[in-house]
Amino acid sequence: MQELQQILDDALRSFAATDDAAELENAKARYLGKEGSLTGLLKGLGKLSAEERPAAGARINQVKQQIEAALQARREVIQQQALNAKLAGEALDVTLPGRGTGAGGLHPVTRTLERIETLFHSIGYAVAEGPEIENDFYNFTALNIPEDHPARAMHDTFYIDGQHVLRTHTSPIQIRYMQAHVEQHRHLETMPDIRIIAPGRVYRVDSDATHSPMFHQVEGLWVGERVSFADLKGVIADFLQNYFETEDMQVRFRPSFFPFTEPSAEMDMSWKGGWLEIGGCGMVHPNVLKHVGIDSEKYIGFAFGMGVERLAMLRYGVNDLRLFFESDVQFLKQFN
Ligand code: DAH
Repeated sequence: MQELQQILDDALRSFAATDDAAELENAKARYLGKEGSLTGLLKGLGKLSAEERPAAGARINQVKQQIEAALQARREVIQQQALNAKLAGEALDVTLPGRGTGAGGLHPVTRTLERIETLFHSIGYAVAEGPEIENDFYNFTALNIPEDHPARAMHDTFYIDGQHVLRTHTSPIQIRYMQAHVEQHRHLETMPDIRIIAPGRVYRVDSDATHSPMFHQVEGLWVGERVSFADLKGVIADFLQNYFETEDMQVRFRPSFFPFTEPSAEMDMSWKGGWLEIGGCGMVHPNVLKHVGIDSEKYIGFAFGMGVERLAMLRYGVNDLRLFFESDVQFLKQFN
């Protein structure tokens, strides 16, 4: 059977000639498939005589097994090659430098708030907080702000509904804190002093290089039996000198008006040969004390409010307030 040897040789050669799994299966079909040459020979067995048939059949089957073994061996080689190529493609170069997990940092406004808190803490002030959605009573009425005050207008204030606003200042925290303090010390003849700062976000309908619809304030409040305007000036001057790390800091108080203080003043600090406004202050108005049930004949206090971004801008030399809220990592990185 010359032909049989020929088929075997052809098959082995064509299997060896390909590195491609699909091509190998096509080659297989040429020999072992329905129309394959070996299959053709098997079909032809019927034409042989009964004596010839067993021997011929055995030889064809033997070749068939050889072809199948060669096919299986080649399949394994091709599979291994594919795996090797895949592994090589996915290889990790463990000697490359790491990408790093860039350490995060605090926002400059947060750093400023922390600095303010630390400084006031060192002179005995606690930190108080309050909600950002306030009701009309805490944001306005209790602070002696009259019904027709411009701050109550829709175009200055974000209203949630008729009764609730996004707080326009941190002053409502004064009211909440005083109420709780009075409640807590109701049983005492004399109420201990209130000495807090109240930092937080506030909201106004306003937006330009020095105004943002959301910004931060820090409120200060000291109420006791013997608190004077001189104490107020001392605390503010001392704070500013420490905050800006200079003894050479002048503080100026200009008469002003706030509904919740009497007298009231605007606070200015010396800056590059001029004056810069940094907030408002005054002696807590008796009506405010009345609203929280504090006897204004016995107790007196001062309050102040400062813009936190203003303090951050001055300390870090930033001239556009909006930079603080653009989440630009290039900008924010500089503070860490
Ligand atoms: N709440 C005022 C504002 O947002 C700032 C202020 C002024 C706060 C005088 C005070 C104060 O506590 O006494 O404009």
